[in-house]
Amino acid sequence: MAGSSSSNSSLGFYKLLALQLCVTWLLFGVAYAQLSQDFYNTTCPSALSIIRSVVVAAIANETRMGASLTRLFFHDCFVQGCDGSCLLDDTPTFIGEKTAFPNNNSLRGFDVIDKIKSNVEAACPGVVSCADIVAVAARDSVVILGGPSWTVQLGRRDSTTANFTAANTDLPSPFLNLSGLMAAFRKKNFTAEEMVTASGAHTFGDARCTNFRARIYNETNINPEFASSKKSICPITGGDNNLSTLDVTTPYYFDNAYYKNLLNEKGLLHSDQQLYNGGSTDSQVESYSSNPANFSADFSNVMVKMGNLSPLTGSNGQIRYNCRKIN
Ligand code: HEM
Ligand SMILES: *[C@@H]1O[C@H](CO)[C@@H](O)[C@H](O)[C@H]1NC(C)=O
Ligand SMILES: *[C@@H]1O[C@H](CO)[C@@H](O)[C@H](O)[C@H]1NC(C)=O
Ligand SMILES: *[C@@H]1O[C@H](CO)[C@@H](O)[C@H](O)[C@H]1NC(C)=O
Ligand SMILES: *[C@@H]1O[C@H](CO)[C@@H](O)[C@H](O)[C@H]1NC(C)=O
Ligand SMILES: *[C@@H]1O[C@H](CO)[C@@H](O)[C@H](O)[C@H]1NC(C)=O
Ligand SMILES: *[C@@H]1O[C@H](CO)[C@@H](O)[C@H](O)[C@H]1NC(C)=O
Ligand SMILES: *[C@@H]1O[C@H](CO)[C@@H](O)[C@H](O)[C@H]1NC(C)=O
Ligand SMILES: *[C@@H]1O[C@H](CO)[C@@H](O)[C@H](O)[C@H]1NC(C)=O
Ligand SMILES: *[C@@H]1O[C@H](CO)[C@@H](O)[C@H](O)[C@H]1NC(C)=O
Repeated sequence: MAGSSSSNSSLGFYKLLALQLCVTWLLFGVAYAQLSQDFYNTTCPSALSIIRSVVVAAIANETRMGASLTRLFFHDCFVQGCDGSCLLDDTPTFIGEKTAFPNNNSLRGFDVIDKIKSNVEAACPGVVSCADIVAVAARDSVVILGGPSWTVQLGRRDSTTANFTAANTDLPSPFLNLSGLMAAFRKKNFTAEEMVTASGAHTFGDARCTNFRARIYNETNINPEFASSKKSICPITGGDNNLSTLDVTTPYYFDNAYYKNLLNEKGLLHSDQQLYNGGSTDSQVESYSSNPANFSADFSNVMVKMGNLSPLTGSNGQIRYNCRKIN
């Protein structure tokens, strides 16, 4: 076989060149692997349409699910990066992030992710990561519920680990003050402005009484009628899991009403009202409240940035077959 001969010096040169190219590709291709919007174009061209159709159905069944899927993306990306770590179930020998304080009895949408995963596995086995599914599902949710779109970069791989401690330390608490909120985002290289923008996601979805009780009973920077109306669903004791919408105006629609509510001291969480409480972020809240197009454009950009948080690429991590457990 001519190809296997190494006696021809010219062929040897080309073999060496090929080897050299291979080494270069490994070094640069893997070490510098980037996300790209075309990542599944040849390996799973139906991936994006499959994800979208499951998200459409899930939101048609329960509008809140769009908010839940958006939050899932945030809670994935802020803990070890966007690597699907928040999806892993606990086992007797492994503790995941689902029972960490910000997630326990709160983070949801796992069944929807499972449904998407089983549909994409049927179309293209072992190709599409859970981390990418979460990123696309969040974008689709925002669009379906009236918000802006953005291009989701793809090619993230899934973690083989999770970090319960990091979920407790890196996800911001609703009891933080403005400087605490800024610090939580600074830790992920987000500016104070980007923190205010990302918080606009509280334009849809729900929160539990336990997370806003202290605000409605004890705080003074709250609209009194708004506080009383919330007390009727959030008793001073008990009812910890009773729900209220985060946005009192358009609860399951993605718009800039969140910022308008803040101007009226109708932020539900302590952390929400911190963004408009006489501090340095007041002007941005005012600006977004009167300029929805600017909020939308900024929000799209901040979600793209969130999706770039420490992705696993190249040969790092794996493509899980089941989003709830490592292969
Ligand atoms: C700025 C700091 C943030 C804090 C302190 C915070 C805190 C919270 C809390 C306490 C809840 C209610 C959870 C419950 O009671 O079960 C919640 C809900 C939610 N959060 Fe945040 N969050 C923040 C930023 C974000 C960001 C950046 C996003 C997404 C980009 C986001 C998206 C959501 C959504 C959509 C919901 C409603 C989820 C549902 O209805 O299932 N949040 N957040
Ligand atoms: C990949 O697919 C998307 C969606 O069909 C298309 O917009 C894009 O142009 C494709 N990119 C390449 C490089 O083929
Ligand atoms: C539809 O939403 C309800 C909650 O409103 C949930 O209990 C149910 O499992 C959902 N059904 C499907 C098929 O997703
Ligand atoms: C999570 O919530 C369950 C049910 O309320 C509770 O029993 C459990 O102790 C909580 N886990 C943690 C780690 O707080
Ligand atoms: C988990 O997260 C904590 C807090 O960020 C960090 O100190 C620790 O090193 C992480 N553990 C692993 C195994 O990565
Ligand atoms: C914000 O909270 C931190 C920690 O609880 C506290 O040390 C700090 O003094 C607070 N800052 C303001 C301006 O209240
Ligand atoms: C933030 O930026 C620093 C400096 O570029 C980098 O070392 C760090 O890994 C970044 N953090 C995250 C969470 O991306
Ligand atoms: C309100 O503040 C008082 C005094 O700090 C505290 O004892 C009480 O538990 C708080 N109530 C709520 C509902 O947080
Ligand atoms: C809230 O919780 C309390 C105590 O568990 C319960 O009695 C009440 O019916 C709940 N209210 C609503 C509006 O769900
Ligand atoms: C939104 O407005 C701010 C303040 O004027 C500006 O800095 C920012 O660039 C605008 N965003 C976009 C995407 O144009």
